Amino acid sequence: MENSDFYLVYNGLFLPKSLHTEDSLKYFESFQVQDDDVILITYPKSGTTWMQEILPSLLNGGDPTPVLTIPNWLRVPWLEEVSIAEVVDRLTAPRAFTSHMPYHLMPSSFFSSKAKVIYITRNPKDVVVSNYYFNQMGSFLLDPGTFEEFTDNFLTGNVIFGKWTDHVKSWKNPDLGDRILYITYEEMIQDVCGVIKRVLSFLGRQLSEDALKRVIEQCAFKNMKQNNMSNYSLVPQEHLDQSKVSFLRKGVVGDWKNHFSSELEAKFNAVISEEMKGTDIGCLLDEEDN
Ligand code: A3P
Repeated sequence: MENSDFYLVYNGLFLPKSLHTEDSLKYFESFQVQDDDVILITYPKSGTTWMQEILPSLLNGGDPTPVLTIPNWLRVPWLEEVSIAEVVDRLTAPRAFTSHMPYHLMPSSFFSSKAKVIYITRNPKDVVVSNYYFNQMGSFLLDPGTFEEFTDNFLTGNVIFGKWTDHVKSWKNPDLGDRILYITYEEMIQDVCGVIKRVLSFLGRQLSEDALKRVIEQCAFKNMKQNNMSNYSLVPQEHLDQSKVSFLRKGVVGDWKNHFSSELEAKFNAVISEEMKGTDIGCLLDEEDN
C-alpha cells in the first residue's frame, strides 16, 4: 500500500480520499465566505475537536444543544470535506467552519471577506505523536510504520496536509491583521477559561458566568470523551479503530517525551528551527514542556 491508495494530491498536499473528492475541493474553492463567518484553522492534531466543542456555544449565547446533538464534523464542518454540502444550508449565522488548509489555498471569497479566523498551534513534537496514533487508528490513512519513520515523513511533509512549518508560517501572514486570533493548545491546557475569554472578546461576544462555567465543564477532556457527538464513536470501527487508542487519546502537553529518543529530538529540533528561522514562532518547539 502506498500514498496514492489513500490520498489524492491537491496543490502538493496529501488529502485522505475518503474525506475529500475532486467535487468537494471544487466546492471548497468556490465557497462563498460571509463577513460574519468564523473559521477555525489548524494543522491536524493541534486541538481542532476541542475548539469545535467550545465555539458553537460562544456564538449562540451559551446554548449547549448543538454540542450535545450534532457530530463535530457537521457542527463546525470542514470547508474542504465532502460532508459540508449536506449541512451548509442548515447553518445559521454566524456560521462556524473548520479548515486544515494553508492560507494561500483558501477560497478566493475568503480574501475579500471580513471573516474571522481562530488559529490554534501546538508543539509540533506533540502534534507528530498525536498524528502517529491517529494514523494507526484510521483505516483511511497510510500505516505510519515506526515512530521514527513517521517522524521523518512528518518532517518532509509526506503526511496529510503537508509540512507543519509551511502551515504555521502561511497563517502568520500580516495581511490578516486583526482578523486572526492565535492561540496555542498549551495555553488551552494551562487556562482554558482565559482562552475562552480571549475568543469571546475577539468575536465581540459575551456569555453569562453560568454559561461560561457550562462551556468550561463541557469541554473538559473527561467530559468530551463521554460525548458521543465529539469522541468519534459514531464513526464505524472499520474506518476509525478506537479499540486500542482513543481519538481523544491523552490530552496532555509533553507526551513527546515518551516517544522521542534524544537523537530523534535533536534532529527534529534542528529541522524545525531551521525552517522557522526568522519567524517569531520557533519558540513553540519547547514552550512550557521542558
Ligand atoms: P492527543 O492525541 O495528544 O491526546 P485534533 O482535534 O486537532 O485532531 O487534535 C486531537 C488532539 O487534541 C488529541 O491529542 C486529543 O486528545 C486532544 N484534545 C481534544 N480535546 C481535548 C480536551 N478537551 N483537552 C485536552 N486535549 C484535547
